[in-house]
This record gives sequence, C-alpha cells and structure tokens, in this order.
Amino acid sequence: MGGSASEGRMRVVAVISVKGGVGKTTSAVNLAYLAARAGKRTLLIDLDPQGAASYLLRVGGAEVESPADGKAHTTDIPQLDVLAAPPGWAVSGDGLDASLPDPFWLRSTIDAVGDWYDEVVLDCPPGTSELTHGIVAVADALLVPVIPNPLSLRTLDALADLMVDHEGPVPPMFPFFTLVDRRRKVHRSIVEHLQLNRAETMSAPVPYSADVEKMGVVRSPLARFAPHHPATQAYEAIWAELEVRMRDHPRGESRPASFTRAEAFDTLRPQAAS
Ligand SMILES: Nc1ncnc2c1ncn2[C@@H]1O[C@H](COP(=O)(O)OP(=O)(O)O)[C@@H](O)[C@H]1O
Ligand SMILES: [Mg+2]
Repeated sequence: MGGSASEGRMRVVAVISVKGGVGKTTSAVNLAYLAARAGKRTLLIDLDPQGAASYLLRVGGAEVESPADGKAHTTDIPQLDVLAAPPGWAVSGDGLDASLPDPFWLRSTIDAVGDWYDEVVLDCPPGTSELTHGIVAVADALLVPVIPNPLSLRTLDALADLMVDHEGPVPPMFPFFTLVDRRRKVHRSIVEHLQLNRAETMSAPVPYSADVEKMGVVRSPLARFAPHHPATQAYEAIWAELEVRMRDHPRGESRPASFTRAEAFDTLRPQAAS
C-alpha cells in the first residue's frame, strides 16, 4: 500500500454490531455521505448480502475503473463510490457462512484501493463470523450503533469478547446511540450511564425519527435531503468526534474491556426496584 506517513493515508471505519436493526446501514450511508461532502474520496463497501446500503445509494451507476478486483460503482453523490462485496467464501469449511463475503477478499480489496480513496466505510452484516475477524483486522476504528435498551447494550460485550479472541492488533471501538427516544426514561438513563462510565462512547445520540426511515423511500442519505435535521446533526457530530478520538486511540493500542456486564443492569436496577 502506498503512503508511509499517517498523512494522506486511507482510513477504514467499520460500522458494526452483532445485532441487526440497530442502524448500521443508516449510519454507514450517512457517515459516508458526510465524508464525501467534506471532499474526501470515499468508498462505502457494502458487506451485507442484503445490499441495503447499495439500494439506499441507488447503486447502478457507472463502474469506476479501480484496482480492486471487485468493481466499485459511482453514485449520484460526488466523491462517493460503492462496492458491493461478492457473496460466498473462497474456501468453505467450519465456521464459514457461505452467504457472507470472503474476509480475504476484504483484505485484498482494501489493500488494492489504498491509493484511490481517503475514507472507506464498511457497512457490516449482523452476527459474528470469520468475516467479523476480517473486518477487525482491516478497520482503523469500529463504530458500534447501540439502541439504548439492555439487550442491545449486551451486544457490545459480544463484540468486545470477539476482539479479545482476535489474533493481532485490534482497532479502537466507539459505541454510539441510535434510535434514541429521549422521552423514555430507560433510554435517557442508559445513554447517560454509558457516556459517564465509558469514555469511548460518542457524545451525540442519534434521535429516533420517522424522517430517518424515509431514506428508504427517497433513496438518499438523510444528511443530503434533510441537512439540518437533528439526526443529521448527530451524524455530523459523531463523524467530527471520531476524527478527534482516533488521534488519541491509535490502532492496536488496547483491547476493549467488557462494556456492560457489570453496568447495564446496574443502570436499570433502580427502576426495576421502583
Ligand atoms: N434514527 C432512526 N430513527 C428512526 N428509524 C431509524 C433510525 N435509524 C435507523 N432507522 C430505521 O431502523 C431500521 C433498521 O435500520 P438499519 O440501518 O437498516 O439497521 P441495520 O443495518 O443495523 O440492520 C430501518 O428501517 C431504518 O430506517
Ligand atoms: Mg444493515
């Protein structure tokens, strides 16, 4: 890969959770859009065989000539390309899910596109598999959307455990809240608790809003068709905060501690008791 200094080096951000329906695709599409809007040459890699990110970005445009063995597609958003991972593993065997992309494909693709893009955003499928280790191996940061309820919070531990088992350096992991309903006490208390006790939690919660769901109808990032929306502002804040935090947490420096085992239920106990 080209580039020796950190300046100008391509950055890989994975939007990942073991859980489905937590806002991974919504977040990946909006964050990739914000990167492109800021003038970064951005590639969104759609690792979910469902192809929701490709759908939301109306992929179908011209193929970009690129060194990747897969073919990236342009979108109608300047500086934003999308690469849909080919499904299926090069090898099949124990623990490999044949419907998921090949982690070796991911590595070689990331290496191949290094000089072409400034930012790569990975929209990850739910679950844990060999692909998850492949993602952990290539990502410079993991952004983990979490709905503020106890069950979702527990999924942070599943990812943290996987990182502990991972061979080799691991990227820093930054949870952020999605689908937040501030009217609900459980949501407020979980957001506040994690933000107070886990410094790596992003400050801006993405609010629940029916406008976010309209992305599926408009087929465009919310940040594009509603640039002043509170959820857009939250994504802007998250993207800006990531930039700052990645300076403080270089790749491979530390392994994540368990997020919730001791904490999630403490948060709720006073309410359960009352
Ligand atoms: N902030 C939000 N407010 C309301 N609905 C949301 C929000 N974020 C995501 N959604 C909706 O929740 C559903 C799941 O989101 P999605 O991004 O597809 O999750 P994932 O990729 O984790 O499965 C989608 O219907 C999406 O439109
Ligand atoms: Mg998704």
